[in-house]
Amino acid sequence: MSIHISAKKGEIAKVVLQPGDPLRAKYIAENFLENARLVSQTRGILYYTGIYKGKEITVGASGMGFPSIGIYSFELFTEYEVDTIIRIGTCGAYTTDLKVFDILNVENAASESTYAKYAWEIDEEIISHQGNIFNTINETAQEMSLTAKATNIHSSDIFYRKDPAIPAIATKYSCPAVEMEAFGLFANAQHLGKNAATILTVSDIIPTHENISADQRETALRPMIELALEAAWK
Ligand code: HPA
Repeated sequence: MSIHISAKKGEIAKVVLQPGDPLRAKYIAENFLENARLVSQTRGILYYTGIYKGKEITVGASGMGFPSIGIYSFELFTEYEVDTIIRIGTCGAYTTDLKVFDILNVENAASESTYAKYAWEIDEEIISHQGNIFNTINETAQEMSLTAKATNIHSSDIFYRKDPAIPAIATKYSCPAVEMEAFGLFANAQHLGKNAATILTVSDIIPTHENISADQRETALRPMIELALEAAWK
C-alpha cells in the first residue's frame, strides 16, 4: 500500500495505462483486459490489473491536474516499481488545423506551472516525454495504420480563464492543444529515471466550440486505447 493507492505490492504491473477518469479505467479493464481485478479504489480512483494478449497490464486513473497525477505517478513509480506510465487523455485544440478525434503523441509538454521547479528543481518550462515508449507508440501507430501526430502540448493548471486568447507559452513552444497532466507526469519520470508518454485524443476545438459528445466518447477513444495497449504490450 502507498498513501493514496491501496493495492498490495506486486498487484500493479510494470506498465500502467493512466486515463484521467476512474470510470474510463473501469471501461478499459472491463472491455480490453482479461481477468481484470480491482486492486485499488481509494478515493474512488480505480486501479485494475489484468492481462492483455498474455502480458500483465494495470490501468488506473490519474485524476485531473498536476497535483493529482503528481501523486499517483510518483507512488506508482516509487512504491510499486512501475517502469512505464502511458497517460491516455483528451485535449482541447487551440487551432482548427486539428480535428476532433485526432490522436496526438506528445513529444514535449510546456507549462507555466511551478510543479517541476518546486518538486524537483527542474527549472525548464518545457519537459520531454521520457524513455523509449514515445518511439514505441510511433512505431506501433504506423503498424496499426493510425496517425498519432508527434506534437508539443500545453499542459495547463487552468481550465477556465478570463482571457480567451491563446496563452503565450503555447505560442512560444508551438503547442496546438492543451491538457492538464503531461508536464507533471514527465517531470516525475525525468526525476526518477522512468519511462513516460502521453497519448491524447482531441475532444474539443476551442475556437469553434466543436466537441466530441459524451455518448461519442467511448467509441471515439477506442483507437487511442488500442494504440496504448499495443505499445504497452511490446
Ligand atoms: N483545456 C484543458 N484540458 C482539456 C481541454 C481544455 O480545453 N479539453 C480537454 N482537456
